[in-house]
Amino acid sequence: MATQLPKMTLFDFLRAVWRILAGRPQTPSSLEGNELLKIIHNRRSVRHFTKREIQDDVFSAILEAGRLAPSTVNLQTWSFAIFDSETWQGTFNKIIPFRAQRAVIVMGDTHRNRAVLNTFPQSPLVEYTVAVTNASLAAMNMNIAAEALGVSSVMLSETGRTGLLDSDYLKQKLNLPDDVFPIMTIVFGYASKAYPPMPPKLPLDQICFAGGKYKETDSQVLDDWMMQMTAGYKASFPGSSLNAQLNVYKSKIFDAEKELNRMVFNKQICDQ
Ligand SMILES: Cc1cc2nc3c(=O)[nH]c(=O)nc-3n(C[C@H](O)[C@H](O)[C@H](O)COP(=O)(O)O)c2cc1C
Repeated sequence: MATQLPKMTLFDFLRAVWRILAGRPQTPSSLEGNELLKIIHNRRSVRHFTKREIQDDVFSAILEAGRLAPSTVNLQTWSFAIFDSETWQGTFNKIIPFRAQRAVIVMGDTHRNRAVLNTFPQSPLVEYTVAVTNASLAAMNMNIAAEALGVSSVMLSETGRTGLLDSDYLKQKLNLPDDVFPIMTIVFGYASKAYPPMPPKLPLDQICFAGGKYKETDSQVLDDWMMQMTAGYKASFPGSSLNAQLNVYKSKIFDAEKELNRMVFNKQICDQ
């Protein structure tokens, strides 16, 4: 819960910021030259872009990476709404978030399959979990392909009313059929500054467990991570706090949950 975030002394804050700045991807020295690992390990969510346009061939290659992503039984339960600055402005009457040059709204889509296959029950698992899982993999493929082409990006669930948390709005704007659900918007552009430091990532030995039994995360590691999350947020957004941001997120999630329940699950209940 947002209210449980740690209180910090100045010393705690400085120590946590220092630990963030010292954080590095752990690449085995034998693999340091691997180009794909470099791209994945050094990727960052970027929120500052230059005015440089992304050429059509580059954008097409990014979309192609999405098209070729793995999916359950190769059912490709996704759609991508694609935009440049002009078409975004025309659709949403505002600029692309963070002044990015291109955007893709990634959607879970079981609608297309239903035209040819009578396989899917209209259940929350199919409508939501399966489609969302597959579409998220396509999103990640696009994100990595962009990095490989020198294009930076950030996935958005709420900024600019264009993600999972604004499904109903997008459904109307994009004229989406039932069983097509916006999951996130990825905005793309060329980074205008050096990449930000790696945000605090939990250590590998805390997120993996071997031996077939779930292992609880060390509470000291969790406290330390929360300290870094709080300090990192404060250092990036001095006028706000992680706590405030989590509270905004919490209320948005609450509203989005109601919206999705109405759009997905109530409909399903009524259909039965
Ligand atoms: C599904 C998803 C939704 C996200 N939504 C937002 C968002 O609405 N606004 C934002 O600034 N960043 C958003 N992010 C980016 C995360 O904040 C970012 O991935 C996280 O802080 C870790 O940083 P990194 O990507 O540089 O490793 C989102 C990321 C994901 C995967």
